[in-house]
Amino acid sequence: METLEAIFTRRSIRKFKNKEIPEELVIKLLQAAMYAPSARNTQPWHFIVINDRKKLNEIPKLHPYAEMCYEATLAIMICGDLDLEITEGYIALNCAAATQNLLLAAHDLGLGAVWLGVYPRKERMEKLSKFFGIPKNIIPVSLVAIGYPDEVKPKPERFKPDRIHYNHW
Ligand SMILES: Cc1cc2nc3c(=O)[nH]c(=O)nc-3n(C[C@H](O)[C@H](O)[C@H](O)COP(=O)(O)O)c2cc1C
Repeated sequence: METLEAIFTRRSIRKFKNKEIPEELVIKLLQAAMYAPSARNTQPWHFIVINDRKKLNEIPKLHPYAEMCYEATLAIMICGDLDLEITEGYIALNCAAATQNLLLAAHDLGLGAVWLGVYPRKERMEKLSKFFGIPKNIIPVSLVAIGYPDEVKPKPERFKPDRIHYNHW
């Protein structure tokens, strides 16, 4: 798939087929995430790959908008490592770039995915950190629920010329 086509046709997918994702595709998703840009190229991320059905079923109890995890066959939590982050304040931005790369790669590979916000919601961060045994210096930033898509979403119109400011506001 061409890059621009992937960008324009990616949608949040929340309905999934009951079909396992092969390991090589999981590695591709992680590779794509790790090729994201990061401030001063710190690459301060870690990824928790969740493919245990029992653990996937616990996520909606820890996150208020994660019901699709009952159907998703995979979830990946993108975490930032404060010990690797030398550019203060950029940790969430770096992890967000990795998250978007992962979403686009999923779409390109014929998978469906949805970004579940974690940082900066304290309650979600605390509950997920406790459940997944995340150390204190690691910040859970986002969670992506993934599976083979069981819904098709049209491309909405989002281009807003009035949001563009040339040379000056
Ligand atoms: C920071 C962030 C947090 C989000 N959190 C959730 C979430 O908790 N649950 C959910 O179902 N979707 C979540 N989404 C997905 C958005 O709802 C979705 O991207 C938006 O409605 C636009 O739709 P699209 O992704 O299909 O273009 C989140 C997206 C972002 C960027």
